[in-house]
Amino acid sequence: MHILISFHSDYGHTENMATAIAAGCQASFPDAALHILTAEQTQLSDFERADVIFLGTPVHMGSMAWGMKKLLDSTSKLWMEDLLEGKVGGVFACSGGLGGAGGGIEQTLISLHSLLLEHGMIAVGFPKSLLGYADAGIQWGVAARTGNHEGMPQTISDAALTACRSYGAHVCRVAHKLRHA
Ligand SMILES: Cc1cc2nc3c(=O)[nH]c(=O)nc-3n(C[C@H](O)[C@H](O)[C@H](O)COP(=O)(O)O)c2cc1C
Repeated sequence: MHILISFHSDYGHTENMATAIAAGCQASFPDAALHILTAEQTQLSDFERADVIFLGTPVHMGSMAWGMKKLLDSTSKLWMEDLLEGKVGGVFACSGGLGGAGGGIEQTLISLHSLLLEHGMIAVGFPKSLLGYADAGIQWGVAARTGNHEGMPQTISDAALTACRSYGAHVCRVAHKLRHA
């Protein structure tokens, strides 16, 4: 099984999430081939090769970072030929989250899901029974807050990284079940 984890990260928080998701995938499927790439490094051939695709971004001004959007727009070439149809996907994001509602993180996650679904992929959410849901889960995927009360970057919590690991393992298990159905 080939797993692509493609992310944008300016200050390392989303990258830490990507690494934790990879750890969750590897714990469940030690033989899987993991490809952890920044959006800039990700090629269309990486999408084509992957059985499972994770997309991650920080929230920038209420939506995904432009580096991720640029990459996703380039996948229209794959859409023309239905090349991602039937692949399994998951999404993750982090935001400073100043205020009570996550600073736009839900709509960011939903816009990533929209891309998966436009390609005919199977978008996998985050069931509330999984470890870490109460800390950084939301039905769409992993949603982590990294800011302090002044809106400045602080840190990503261990609990959020736990959520990443359990979500990574879950999405891979779904993909495995589908492959062997
Ligand atoms: C240009 C820019 C715009 C941002 N806009 C938002 C925002 O709209 N809402 C929010 O909650 N956080 C916002 N943030 C904060 C980041 O989402 C947050 O610090 C995130 O954890 C950074 O992830 P990274 O370390 O992977 O770059 C913004 C940060 C930057 C640099």
